[in-house]
Amino acid sequence: MLTKPDNAYTRTVGDGRRATNIIGGKPVPARSGATIDVASPSDGAVFASIPRSDGADVDAAVAAARAAFETGPWARMSALERGRLLFALHDKIGENAGELAALESRDAGKPARQGVADVNGAMRYFEFNAGAADKLNGDQIPFLDGYTALAMREPHGVVAGIIPWNYPLQILGRVAGAALAMGNTLVIKPAEDASLTTIRVAELALEAGFPEGVFNVVTGYGAEAGAPLSAHPDVDYVTFTGSPVTGTAIQAAAAINNRGVTMELGGKSPQILFADADLEAAMPVLVNAIIQNGGQTCSAGSRILVERSIHDTVAAQLAERFSALVAEPHWADGDLGPLVNAVQADRVAGFVDAAKAAGTPVLAEGQVSGDAPAGGHYVAPVLFGGVDPESDLARQEVFGPVLSMLAFDGEDEAIRLANATDFGLVAAVWTRDGGRQFRVARAIRSGQVFVNCYGAGGGVELPFGGFKKSGHGREKGLEALRDMSATKAIIFNHG
Ligand code: NAI
Ligand code: MG
Repeated sequence: MLTKPDNAYTRTVGDGRRATNIIGGKPVPARSGATIDVASPSDGAVFASIPRSDGADVDAAVAAARAAFETGPWARMSALERGRLLFALHDKIGENAGELAALESRDAGKPARQGVADVNGAMRYFEFNAGAADKLNGDQIPFLDGYTALAMREPHGVVAGIIPWNYPLQILGRVAGAALAMGNTLVIKPAEDASLTTIRVAELALEAGFPEGVFNVVTGYGAEAGAPLSAHPDVDYVTFTGSPVTGTAIQAAAAINNRGVTMELGGKSPQILFADADLEAAMPVLVNAIIQNGGQTCSAGSRILVERSIHDTVAAQLAERFSALVAEPHWADGDLGPLVNAVQADRVAGFVDAAKAAGTPVLAEGQVSGDAPAGGHYVAPVLFGGVDPESDLARQEVFGPVLSMLAFDGEDEAIRLANATDFGLVAAVWTRDGGRQFRVARAIRSGQVFVNCYGAGGGVELPFGGFKKSGHGREKGLEALRDMSATKAIIFNHG
């Protein structure tokens, strides 16, 4: 496990690197030869390139994954052997942790320590799934006299994983860990804004001994590489993390072939503070849950619902912390880094400007460091109070360092407001009242509810996924292994 970032390394690694796809165990450029420049969000400077793949590259990757699934050594491997390969990959990532952390940090603009946390998170996903590979039993089902019925867990086959740019290593870990543990083969399409660590992990998988064709990577734009992958007739299952709009497009594409999907589509996650909450414990957690990764986190705690009697106290304490926050380049390892690209920075600024124009009170604003390079995509953190529950700010995923406070009167209104968005990914309840902890946790429509804590990004063991527009299917924990496999019933008539 890596314990601290090496900032000098963060600045220099990957210079001039011309990254390739990984198809059938080989590093290959796009067949067209086209590339996409890779720039760091911290200064806009280009430092590498990735293939700009299209349908021809996707076809080759899916064919390699299909061949590995049907006929390669992978097809005959026991669950124990798959688990051992996953442990070997975990170890390889550990041996290369410094390089990977630095690369992730530079590619996505993450503060250096977040790159470290992401490498450790990815390792934990591979470790968990390595250990789980030979432990998920099927069932024997009581049936008619003279019969024995089994329910087997079988891999889907070729799994396509379409991954976003906010936590590439961690999301790769949770997708690939579970899919490979269950015996599937993979084609991963990382995000065009942060593909480098995914390519590196696929290289490490080969070094760890994964047979060729098991772990393929095709980089490129969503419309050119992601779309043909999700519509591919030889892909058996699609897993996606990203925006609801793209999720709808991917589901429609997968529906052409009636394929199963797992969709993790973000949230507008509330943290509810009742008057008896331990504010001292809550305060750093509330701030971190929206500032971590610049707020570009599906499980960001982007709404604070506060009981009216403590509203002003909470507002003052949060404002003090928010006004001290500084956005800095990733190498400075500050409170937060830049956003991933200009489009995201503009999008977040659009939400902030619209809320200000509508007269929403600004309780505090942080700053962008004076040392931040002009080519970077920086946004200052903002804390809004008295947010209109019907406004875009209260209802839509901003995906930036923007926190909304809303006041409530009583438990019923707290629950109503918590549920008053289209999303339902994560929530938190802060209260010392045991009965209320249970009542509120049960009443919130959300895939995870934390009581007196918050788990932005954490919890490899915990099932994770959405209600409502946050998506469907579950990742992480043993639930992920069920999603990454299908039940086959075998019925013996033995008289
Ligand atoms: P996106 O959802 O469009 O991109 C995510 C991935 O999907 C990337 O790999 C992209 O290349 C791929 N993709 C895009 N269009 C595709 C298509 N038609 N077919 C197949 N794959 C496709 O997200 P984007 O545009 O980068 O960000 C927009 C907003 O989405 C953000 O502001 C944020 O609100 C949300 N988002 C949420 C994430 C989460 O973790 N829940 C992660 C990333 C974005
Ligand atoms: Mg990048």
